[in-house]
Amino acid sequence: MTNQFLAPALQPEEDELDRSLRPRRLDDFVGQERVKEQLAIALQATRSREEALDHVLLVGPPGLGKTSLAYIVREELGVGIRSVAGPALERKGDVAAILTSLERLDVLFVDEIHRLNPAAEEMLYPALEDFRLDIVVGQGPAARTLTLDLPPFTFIGATTRTGLLTTPLRDRFGLTFRLGYYEPEQLAIIVRRSAGILGVAIDDEAATEIARRSRGTPRVANRILRRVRDVAEVRHRGAITTEVAREALALHEVDAVGLERTDRELLEAIVGKFDGGPVGLSTLAVALGEQPDTIEDVYEPYLLQLGFLQRTPRGRVITRLGRAHLGAAAADPQLF
Ligand SMILES: Nc1ncnc2c1ncn2[C@@H]1O[C@H](COP(=O)(O)OP(=O)(O)OP(=O)(O)O)[C@@H](O)[C@H]1O
Ligand SMILES: [Mg+2]
Repeated sequence: MTNQFLAPALQPEEDELDRSLRPRRLDDFVGQERVKEQLAIALQATRSREEALDHVLLVGPPGLGKTSLAYIVREELGVGIRSVAGPALERKGDVAAILTSLERLDVLFVDEIHRLNPAAEEMLYPALEDFRLDIVVGQGPAARTLTLDLPPFTFIGATTRTGLLTTPLRDRFGLTFRLGYYEPEQLAIIVRRSAGILGVAIDDEAATEIARRSRGTPRVANRILRRVRDVAEVRHRGAITTEVAREALALHEVDAVGLERTDRELLEAIVGKFDGGPVGLSTLAVALGEQPDTIEDVYEPYLLQLGFLQRTPRGRVITRLGRAHLGAAAADPQLF
């Protein structure tokens, strides 16, 4: 994934910073009011019944707060958490190992749940349904199924796309929350809060400028804030003004609507190589040297949201708005 402001943290230092900015309690989680309200009620009811919270499915584009919410649930319930990426549960033994490590009322968080392998997924069904683990021992006619009881636990699955979940899996979630892009005002609150944690002074107007260009995504807002802070420290006196924010955004080629160079390259490829489209996803992916999944999960959601791109049965098409944006960006690079 080459969108530098959107990619999940890869280096440990980066990951550490992400964690320090991550909201810990539901009250620190900005926006998504409906989700918070529903979750708060479910949490309160669960706490008073001393039961496990229903299984939770979190859906939404990268960087909107799915992992944060999973950890907030753990924090609010005061229970333990086990966390694993879907593709890491390769063998049945991996699933059995993690399930048997759970304590009563713990949270099991599985990220990228649409990438679970089918055998692992099947093993999860009885665990989610009846807190039961069926293990087959032996082979052929001598094979037997051993059943283990598990403590009640809460399964939290996160995915960028529900379309890829099987129906039996989807049906086992009692609560489903869809996260949408954030409004600039909400992102500005997040930017000011993060600046506070990082100990850097920021103008309200500068926070608003960063918020407007963060493609509706808190992770992007926090990443941009850090690059802006670098520019403020190295070239200025440390405080973040609107001028400093603009300078840093221009340096990193983030444009007026928050697109990075890679997003513009995608739009330019559709115009330049495919005559505006329609072009099939896999063809487009080859032209850009990207994985089709990355294009679908990372680049496209925001381009669709802006109305710059359309998905049609015959492929991707750039819209008039998309062309106009490219034209404006080419005519005035200082539009940044
Ligand atoms: N509602 C929010 N309020 C404040 N900060 C937030 C909020 N949502 C996300 N963040 C910030 O954005 C960062 C990224 O969020 P998070 O890792 O939870 O996203 P995600 O949906 O799990 O992304 P991915 O799909 O890539 O795993 C967090 O570290 C946190 O600092
Ligand atoms: Mg995540």
